[in-house]
Amino acid sequence: MSDAALPIAVFDSGVGGLTVLRALRAEMPEEDFIYLGDTARLPYGTKSADTVCRYALQASALLVDRGVKCLVVACNTASSVALPALDARFGPLPVVGVIEPGASAAVRASGTVRVAVIATEGTVRGNAYPRAIARIRPDVEVIQRACALFVSLAEEGWTDGPIAEAVARRYLEPLFRAEEPPDTLLLGCTHFPALMAPIRRVLGERVRIVDSAATTAEATDACLSSLGLRRRSGIGSVHLAATDGPERFARVGSIFSGEPINPDDVELLDL
Ligand code: DGL
Repeated sequence: MSDAALPIAVFDSGVGGLTVLRALRAEMPEEDFIYLGDTARLPYGTKSADTVCRYALQASALLVDRGVKCLVVACNTASSVALPALDARFGPLPVVGVIEPGASAAVRASGTVRVAVIATEGTVRGNAYPRAIARIRPDVEVIQRACALFVSLAEEGWTDGPIAEAVARRYLEPLFRAEEPPDTLLLGCTHFPALMAPIRRVLGERVRIVDSAATTAEATDACLSSLGLRRRSGIGSVHLAATDGPERFARVGSIFSGEPINPDDVELLDL
């Protein structure tokens, strides 16, 4: 089999990365994908950088051992700390994370060069987004906030309604209270696009809301194209796997993928 015929691996701590998978499939419908959610060890967002790095290496190894042409790290927390280690272990396999693409989406969207980033505790602590944004445009002012409860709300399926809106208000209003508030909000976590409706209601129409899914898909496409690894014909497939609870993966994953998932189609992988 030529390398171009191999699948693209997508790795996340759980089901949230299915939003990135959706964007990847829309960008590259000819490609096969294998997606692994490390549901046994979710959440990554509250864990130390060393632990997340170790988990990301172990879970990615399961995918790489199957023969893949590229690894997409859909998890923001893992992307923020583990990319150098993944590159060192699996290179020359291309490894694409979500931080740089998310940062470039935010810089492109912001007219006032003031950006708010919301993410998990781990991503905020590591300052990955402010550093990535500064590399693209050093004059952009970035404020950040960890929004841990958004992950739980999305996992629970409480993506809209009074509770989701109250939590969104509590997290977001302080970020936008300044005299010159940000004009752009970057959703720096796989789970947050699921809460778009309450976030939009709290912020109103003037704030631009961006995430890294579409730009990560574009970056992956560009990377594979530059290496001559893009498949140009046919209809691609998706294989789903999880390290725990295929039933829960299917139930909660349907919220993120936008289509029903059959638990029997989710392979259980042991780590
Ligand atoms: N996938 C994680 C992220 O994007 C969110 C869930 C978790 O904490 O593991 O940061």
